[in-house]
Amino acid sequence: MTQRTTLVTGASRRIGRAIAEACLARGETVVAHRRSATSECAPFSAPVIDWCWDMTQPLPGLPAAQVTDVVLNASLFERGYAWGALGAAEVGDERERLERHLRVNLLAPWELVVRLHAQHPLRSVVMLLDTYLDRSFAGHAAYQVSRAAGAGMVRALAAELAPACVNAVAPGTVLPSVRDPAERAEQEEAIAARTVLGRMGSVDDVVQAVLYLRDAAYITGEILRVDGGRFKL
Ligand SMILES: NC(=O)c1ccc[n+]([C@@H]2O[C@H](COP(=O)([O-])OP(=O)(O)OC[C@H]3O[C@@H](n4cnc5c(N)ncnc54)[C@H](OP(=O)(O)O)[C@@H]3O)[C@@H](O)[C@H]2O)c1
Repeated sequence: MTQRTTLVTGASRRIGRAIAEACLARGETVVAHRRSATSECAPFSAPVIDWCWDMTQPLPGLPAAQVTDVVLNASLFERGYAWGALGAAEVGDERERLERHLRVNLLAPWELVVRLHAQHPLRSVVMLLDTYLDRSFAGHAAYQVSRAAGAGMVRALAAELAPACVNAVAPGTVLPSVRDPAERAEQEEAIAARTVLGRMGSVDDVVQAVLYLRDAAYITGEILRVDGGRFKL
């Protein structure tokens, strides 16, 4: 087997960082993407190939490494307007929000994968989506549309890039947004109550699923939910 070189987008923090570290722990080569050289990023446990790209901007060129696998982890999540409140000014804002989400969550990952594959055929692509990719909540339209489109892109790329395997992991919330410990505990409890398994997932649950799909030789075009059965309730 040739040495794996995995490009992880959004590798500077949180889930992306944990995926990059898991690859490093296996002795693999990692291309660690971040938005810009000024993005906050603590040192990794082993050397990585740094690569910066603000995904709202045109692709600056490909990393100087022969990438074999890609994990599309970086994403934009911004709350928008609940449409009951939309006035003329808000329509313009909401349109721009949708364009930003489609740019970062769909077009930029699409271009990266297609250009890497054209340069040298990839073995696998795993995209991080969201368990809410096919359900909507008022105020989250732009994000949700971009995630639903991401699921379509994964299936399309699976057909186009074969024999490369292209799949997605769709996590439930594993890192709650609130920082206050009491509020956080409350949020975790609420999330756990909505799962079949009765607990909130962990970053490691997501990392394991990403590596499983990255290494699976006969799975392609699949969206694997890692949400403790949350969508069933
Ligand atoms: N956390 C959860 O509970 C959860 C739940 C469901 C789905 N997910 C999905 O899992 C993935 C990782 O989640 P997370 O919470 O770790 O993500 P996060 O904290 O929101 O981090 C997003 C990453 O995306 C990068 N990014 C954002 N905008 C960018 C841009 N314009 N150009 C380049 N990079 C950009 C950031 O890079 P910089 O740091 O360099 O700015 C950051 O590393 C995401 O796709 C998310 O939607 C997460």
